[in-house]
Amino acid sequence: MPEMTDVVLKRPLLIAIDGPAAAGKGTLAQGLATRLQLPYLDTGLLYRAIGKLMQIAGLDLDDAQAATAVAEKLTPADLQRADLRGREAGELASRVAVHSGVRAALIAFQRDFAHGPHGAVLDGRDIGTVICPDADVKLYVTASAEVRARRRTDELLAKGRSVDYQAILSEVKARDARDSGRVEAPLRPADDATVIDTSALGPAEVLMTALSIVENWQKRH
Ligand code: DC
Repeated sequence: MPEMTDVVLKRPLLIAIDGPAAAGKGTLAQGLATRLQLPYLDTGLLYRAIGKLMQIAGLDLDDAQAATAVAEKLTPADLQRADLRGREAGELASRVAVHSGVRAALIAFQRDFAHGPHGAVLDGRDIGTVICPDADVKLYVTASAEVRARRRTDELLAKGRSVDYQAILSEVKARDARDSGRVEAPLRPADDATVIDTSALGPAEVLMTALSIVENWQKRH
């Protein structure tokens, strides 16, 4: 394991992390939050919870009004559900995330979290562009679709599941197309984001890269 940069924050920072599915955003966000002692919000969980609640209630995911009503009633306890991880919930999330009413209903919660007294790390698709355009540090974490599909396949194989790389690759590409192609808050790097391509990097190297970006930011401010 490479040696870690020792970064001490001069004041609590707001760090925004965006990027496509399975690029390593969550791992990085968690690592940064732990190292820098910042509260962490995985905003994907909000959309996953809405998708899951709709599925359980037998609602149509394409029904913008129904999805917005679920989003408006979402509570922090809904984010603790045990069934929000995994590919299926990710697909449900990506589908409900296209509705503008859903996105609007989630803005205040995310911004309140981001602007708490202790700083924050948020990860998602529109954090640097829409939710926190004022973030101190913006990172855009990406990797080729092939590398992301390979990682996801290996993770599932390690859990003893039978998976097909080509099917996962198609899923990854379809999710990228939906998240980047939607009208409302599409996935894209903010103009002032630093892009980290994780295709050839392990989690420790990604964390080191991000810590040195944070350190450089502090030197300039
Ligand atoms: O990060 P994730 O895989 O948990 O996200 C699941 C889906 O939720 C993603 O495909 C699109 C949507 N999402 C979003 O639109 N905006 C966010 N800030 C976070 C997630």
